[in-house]
Amino acid sequence: MLDYDGEADRYDESRGGLPRARAAAAALGSLLPGHHTTVLDLACGTGIVGGCLREQGRTVLGVDRSAGMLARAEGRLDAVVRADARALPFADASLPAVTAVWLLNLLDDAAPVIAEAARVLRPGGVFVTTVDKAAAHAVDSDIDALVAPYRPAELPDGAGRVTALAAAEGLRPVRTARFTGHGQGRTPLALAARVREGSLYAEGGLPLAERLEALPGPTTPRAEPDFTLLALRRRNR
Ligand SMILES: C[S@@+](CC[C@H](N)C(=O)[O-])C[C@H]1O[C@@H](n2cnc3c(N)ncnc32)[C@H](O)[C@@H]1O
Repeated sequence: MLDYDGEADRYDESRGGLPRARAAAAALGSLLPGHHTTVLDLACGTGIVGGCLREQGRTVLGVDRSAGMLARAEGRLDAVVRADARALPFADASLPAVTAVWLLNLLDDAAPVIAEAARVLRPGGVFVTTVDKAAAHAVDSDIDALVAPYRPAELPDGAGRVTALAAAEGLRPVRTARFTGHGQGRTPLALAARVREGSLYAEGGLPLAERLEALPGPTTPRAEPDFTLLALRRRNR
């Protein structure tokens, strides 16, 4: 996983800044109960999304593993706690809403996070998480046609897998929403560099990097990605 302490200084500007955060918060808000609900934001990062949820009138608690990211979240959220989302320092059935934007895709196994979200949620509470993050870029059709064969079929944040794991924890899917990753359109050249260094689509190797570099407009950002949120409600008893 990326070193998020090292990434903290450039995180917001390199992930679409406030336009992306506001779009994410608007979509989250459409799935969360009430307007003044307390929300526990797992992997809150710099708090840029949680801060936008606060603008909606919500109380936002943030949890993250990275001290560097949390240092930025501190002034933006109502409270922050340094903790692993797989072992939350919150009591059973104590919260009405839990969110996780771009967390499950980073894990080897999403099950422990889903189990913890279900444990801390009150009956009737809602867990909202991003799913299928890798597919969000399918909108950039020329790049996607080249990289799709190298995308693993089973990903930790796959909607089907998340739904099955959630069902085992008493969470059932209720609704979805989408948000645009403003300022996050990929360029063939930047993606080719990630392939060459082996941090993305490594199986494609040099031939894939070369095919990406040969696309027309190699430095032109393609369409902005379209991310999916899935809301899961905890059983009422
Ligand atoms: C891609 S960033 C997303 C940040 C924020 N949700 C956003 O949308 O801007 C991923 C964050 O997950 C955190 N993280 C990764 N694994 C974690 C874990 N097991 N428990 C808590 N935080 C974790 C990282 O430190 C990082 O801040």
